[in-house]
Amino acid sequence: MKAGGSPLAGRTVVLGVAGGIAAYKAAELARRLWERGAEVHTVMTEAATRFVTPLTFASLTHGPVYTDSDLFQPRRAIEHVSLADRAHLVIVAPATANVLGKIACGLADDYLTTVIAAVALRVPVLLAPAMNVHMYRNPAVQANIGRLRELGYEVMEPEEGPLAEGYSGVGRLPEPAAIVAAAERLLTRKRDLAGLRFLVTAGPTREPIDPVRFISNRSSGKMGYALAEAARDRGARVTLVSGPVALPDPPGVEVVRVETAHEMLEAVLARAEEADAIIKAAAVADFRPARPAVHKLKKSSVAPVVELEPNTDILRELGRRKRPGQVLVGFAAETRDLLDNAQRKIRDKNLDFIVLNDVSQPGAGFEVDTNIVTLVFPDGRTEPLPRMSKREVAEAILDRLVALVKERSS
Ligand code: PMT
Repeated sequence: MKAGGSPLAGRTVVLGVAGGIAAYKAAELARRLWERGAEVHTVMTEAATRFVTPLTFASLTHGPVYTDSDLFQPRRAIEHVSLADRAHLVIVAPATANVLGKIACGLADDYLTTVIAAVALRVPVLLAPAMNVHMYRNPAVQANIGRLRELGYEVMEPEEGPLAEGYSGVGRLPEPAAIVAAAERLLTRKRDLAGLRFLVTAGPTREPIDPVRFISNRSSGKMGYALAEAARDRGARVTLVSGPVALPDPPGVEVVRVETAHEMLEAVLARAEEADAIIKAAAVADFRPARPAVHKLKKSSVAPVVELEPNTDILRELGRRKRPGQVLVGFAAETRDLLDNAQRKIRDKNLDFIVLNDVSQPGAGFEVDTNIVTLVFPDGRTEPLPRMSKREVAEAILDRLVALVKERSS
């Protein structure tokens, strides 16, 4: 039964299968792709054919299966190039350490890597690694994965769990449903930020009281990281200046980790000039202890008094230095007089618009996975948005930003 509503429907998908035990799971993936209406062309490496047969894929996809011997058929000599020209999407599952290394180096010594070289990233290429945990952690393999992401390949994280070797670890092929979902996302993603450089800030800052204590706030970084990831997925080159958070570095984003507001100020100002757009989602501490103690403060009957002094307002400084054409977006975390405070911040900080969140509302602001925001513009226009995931809020912010850039260039 074919599902017509999927972004895969009617699309030509090259399914690359490399030689690992997880190749058997690629059969299930092939079936799901076909069910969603994709025209599946399977390309198997020589090693993959030792694990599963081409007949399996031909039967499940009702489509052609290519193996290395097809490269040398005189009448099919340039078929791999025409396949690359027709593809809307390439998926390699499982992607072995060997295949990842070859793609990262631009090698093309078999049917699969030749097709991928000829695709030349004109369409999304989704790589789903699967291998032994030690192979996966091998620094050379990790370096190859890093390079692939930098180049623009979409590399999924393998799953953790029991491996064929009899022990557990990271390296399992993601479930076919997860690969299909990632493929559908890739086919629907916008690329309207291609060529733009984004600078995003996220997370809290920590202002030391003594070597073990600090003043900070509840920012988890989720809002800023969602923005960085959304901008990356829409084609921007993104630098994320992040305060201390528990989130992993988003792949394909340059991450600069800082602790204090002063470190954030320096990191941001050093990169601001070259940015086409700057979005400040970080919750920067407004004050810092004036004289942090060199040694840990001891318990005593007299509680210590911590004198505070103001931190530089980074956003105001960016507004002062804003160059023509640069877009500057701030956030306002408020609990009362919401619109008045937001309007004042737009003026004071020379912003193109501000994202106002009432952080006292459940499902909004700090730590949670959702946010409820109102976009406030310098001309007084406001656009309240419903409660959405932080990723969806990020997409909405980027939509308005793109509209602004287009308006200015027309
Ligand atoms: O990180 P999460 O847990 O996902 O939470 C998200 C969030 C609530 C932190 C985020 O949505 C948010 O509102 N971020 C801004 C928080 C904040 O510091 O708001 P503010 O109203 O105090 O500051 C206004 C703007 O000035 C902000 O863009 C802030 O980054 C900037 N600022 C503030 C002080 C300062 N010294 N320098 C600054 O640049």
